[in-house]
Amino acid sequence: MYNTFEELRSDCMNCRACPLHAGRTNLVFGTGNPEAEVMFVGEGPGEKEDLAGEPFVGRSGQLLDKYLEAIGLSRKKNIYIANMVKCRPPQNRDPLPAEQEECIKWLREQTRLIRPKIIVCLGRISAQRLISPDFKVTKQHGDFIEKGGILFMGTFHPAALLRNPNQKPDALEDFTALRDKINEICENTY
Ligand code: URA
Ligand code: SF4
Repeated sequence: MYNTFEELRSDCMNCRACPLHAGRTNLVFGTGNPEAEVMFVGEGPGEKEDLAGEPFVGRSGQLLDKYLEAIGLSRKKNIYIANMVKCRPPQNRDPLPAEQEECIKWLREQTRLIRPKIIVCLGRISAQRLISPDFKVTKQHGDFIEKGGILFMGTFHPAALLRNPNQKPDALEDFTALRDKINEICENTY
């Protein structure tokens, strides 16, 4: 248990708890406002993120930033963005259950210190781990589910939207629903 975000961050930066540490250029801890009421959780760093040490800086990150901007959110201001695993899986494969199990302790601590009201899961990997193991993004995207005092919502991973642009209108609806929910329950975001 950590008392400050900086202590948490500096310990995490040295983590070698799972085999993914061996392949990293940079660990990608997370970015944004540690006081945010809304948190986004992706899957894991890709090539660009590994090189930059920042989440969602590649093509899918640029798309994510467009959706965020559309509803008045920004990683520089009023949200926090993290991933299920902090080190890049080789060839961008899915993080293994054992790797996620090891790494989730860092995400738990981030969540405990940030105390978000809403967590948005970007894609199947985080939605199945944080919402429910049988979560189906195509069927359950946009639904808000309360767990332990936090509202969770799963939506499409931006990389999936780049592959399937026909899902973009559904994704925009999810972000609009998110904006409405923020207006309803968050006091300091807008
Ligand atoms: N995809 C993710 O899930 N996370 C990132 O940080 C980048 C791409
Ligand atoms: Fe540690 Fe997570 Fe990186 Fe594995 S992926 S080495 S658990 S920070």
